[in-house]
Amino acid sequence: MDFTTLLLAWFRDNQRELPWKEYKDAYSVWVSEIILQQTRVQQGKMYFNRFLETFPTIERLAEAPEDQVLKTWQGLGYYSRARNMHKTAKKIMREYGGSFPKDTGLLQKLDGIGPYTAAAIGSFAFRLPVAALDGNGYRILARYFGIDTPVDSAEAKRSFTTLAQSLLPAGDSASFNQALMDFGSLICTPRPVCGICPMIQTCSAYRDGQTGRLPVKKEKATAKTRYFHYLDIEYGNATFIRQRTGNDIWKGLYEFPLIETSSPAGYPNLIKTEDFKKMLDVSSCTLINIYRAKPHKLSHQTIYPVFYRIRLQSGGNYLQTEYLEIDRDDFSRYAVSRLIEKYMDFFHNFAGL
Ligand code: ADE
Repeated sequence: MDFTTLLLAWFRDNQRELPWKEYKDAYSVWVSEIILQQTRVQQGKMYFNRFLETFPTIERLAEAPEDQVLKTWQGLGYYSRARNMHKTAKKIMREYGGSFPKDTGLLQKLDGIGPYTAAAIGSFAFRLPVAALDGNGYRILARYFGIDTPVDSAEAKRSFTTLAQSLLPAGDSASFNQALMDFGSLICTPRPVCGICPMIQTCSAYRDGQTGRLPVKKEKATAKTRYFHYLDIEYGNATFIRQRTGNDIWKGLYEFPLIETSSPAGYPNLIKTEDFKKMLDVSSCTLINIYRAKPHKLSHQTIYPVFYRIRLQSGGNYLQTEYLEIDRDDFSRYAVSRLIEKYMDFFHNFAGL
């Protein structure tokens, strides 16, 4: 039996129940695919339901203030996804009368929609004959057909897409695409479960003992390292925050005054930096606590965050002009990164501060 027949037979009997499979409209498919881009299925389920409850239609999403969109996204990370969705919702209202175009080329012109997401919307919502290959798809094809082109290369994008396209069953790209995702999550996982795989008799990697080596990836450049020093300033009942700008992580989210260094720096070194001196007069500061969060690993960088809880007696002038002075109890009204949310929880629940 050929690849597609085996895959679809497996899918018929073993597919996962997932909340977004109930939805076939382009808006819901789009929401689920964007959430699942960098989020595990288990966590994605909750956010998917919550997102659709908050923004049941694309019109409601387009009309919402950006802060509310970010707040709904809080904890999911990679916030540019949420900002792009907001932009795209507005554009679809403005230019397409509220409906997604039924064309993968036009879909890819929208912010945050690349070839994969365009194909997923095209096949799941519009039943267009297009293959949607995510990491699962590349892994399965690389193993089954024994292909060692690095899957993160431009060459692989072309050749794997052509191959997948040639394997599509007539009239049902949706099942094929969803089957690849489910099969890749349950059987042909990074450490595959070949013992229960219905394809081993014809799998090239299994035959040649290559399942551990395939898929091949390009050598990775080493991740950039950044040290983030957050100043949680206690000024009476107040603290200071501001919205992150610039084209960087967590743009649009609120955070404490932040000093970034390119090498590790303890408090004694931190207070000697120009950034610190500009913000605070060290003689009116009392260091209350230091909280070192776990390193935050992103695709191209690792951030080492440290929080300094500092009591400030006087001299908040610079902070008062450059930052928002808020009551500590109002903190939860602002959209913040998961990192800062965890830190606040820690202090609330454990440190009793
Ligand atoms: N990951 C991305 N899209 C998915 C989907 N539709 N089902 C399961 N996992 C996915």
